[in-house]
Amino acid sequence: MEILPLHLGVKHLLDSGLHKVPGIYIRSKEERPNVVHREESFPVLDLGAALNSSEARAALVPQIREACMKWGFFQVINHGVPHSLVDEMQSVAREFHALPNEEKMRYFSTDTESRMRYGTSFNVAQDKVFSWRDYLRHSCLPLAEMQDLWPEKPASYRKVTADYSTRVRNLAKFLLELISESLDLPKDYIDKAFNGCSQIMALNFYPACPEPDLVLGIGPHSDPGSITLLLQDHVEGLQVMHGNEWYSVKPIPYSFVVNLGDQIQILSNDKYKSAEHRAVVNSSEDRMSIPISMGPNWESLVHPASKLVEGSPVFKPMFYKDYIMALQAGGLNRQWLLDTLRT
Ligand code: OGA
Ligand code: NI
Repeated sequence: MEILPLHLGVKHLLDSGLHKVPGIYIRSKEERPNVVHREESFPVLDLGAALNSSEARAALVPQIREACMKWGFFQVINHGVPHSLVDEMQSVAREFHALPNEEKMRYFSTDTESRMRYGTSFNVAQDKVFSWRDYLRHSCLPLAEMQDLWPEKPASYRKVTADYSTRVRNLAKFLLELISESLDLPKDYIDKAFNGCSQIMALNFYPACPEPDLVLGIGPHSDPGSITLLLQDHVEGLQVMHGNEWYSVKPIPYSFVVNLGDQIQILSNDKYKSAEHRAVVNSSEDRMSIPISMGPNWESLVHPASKLVEGSPVFKPMFYKDYIMALQAGGLNRQWLLDTLRT
């Protein structure tokens, strides 16, 4: 594919002196960021005690159930991932995005099957409206194999990301066990049904924008996998759809935002919903987020848990690998793909 100037990313556009948003980024009136609620009671779960005591862990299950039923979204604090490692991850990610464009473009690809690529928007080969976002996106498993494909710069990228992704994966396993139990399934049900896991990480960079009201950092979508653990910096921008309104997720330092993905909605037979979300940008500060999307093993055939099905299942089965391929080809847009699986 021919690389056009727009494919070099949003940061590059701004560095070349742009003061107005090019037409390709401008959203329709209905899609533009509008009034947003600020909800103080957005669920925040403190995992501190539950990581060390089985009683506290048991007490967390109903809290997880409520958060999953009501929002499909929650934040976790005291999660055991060391703050120093979170700081290191944030700095290598910032350093990566600050590299000269030629260095980042070494990894540019529009091949949606690629296990590591740098890009802008979602997929420039097909996006009709671009998103105000540059990103690096890569798989984290198998770790030894993937590590050699990750960026060579910054020099500590591979080491920090290996440690960080391993710690976050362990946290995700802990949360998936709680989610299993919250569905009245055995603790290891999800892990077994998904044959272990896949893990994809992104470094999202949303540069400050001269006309933030016309664009989105990332359009409304749900994540395809099981759960996503997102680390955001101090700049507000992530919004969640709840009761037909957008709510802004206020950053809590060192917390993770956890949201349910489509495969949990399928496995739960529609009991839990994958949460729709988007990101907005602002005119004064760059924003960075680092989501880690956990998913079933690529080869898993995902279907509703038989224990949760009364009558016929709500969703048809689909291999996770096929789900991801279809999503990459069809675009990130609300729950269109999930809806095609409804029986
Ligand atoms: C994503 C996403 C939101 C954010 O990358 O899937 O939803 O705040 N990001 O960056
Ligand atoms: Ni997302």
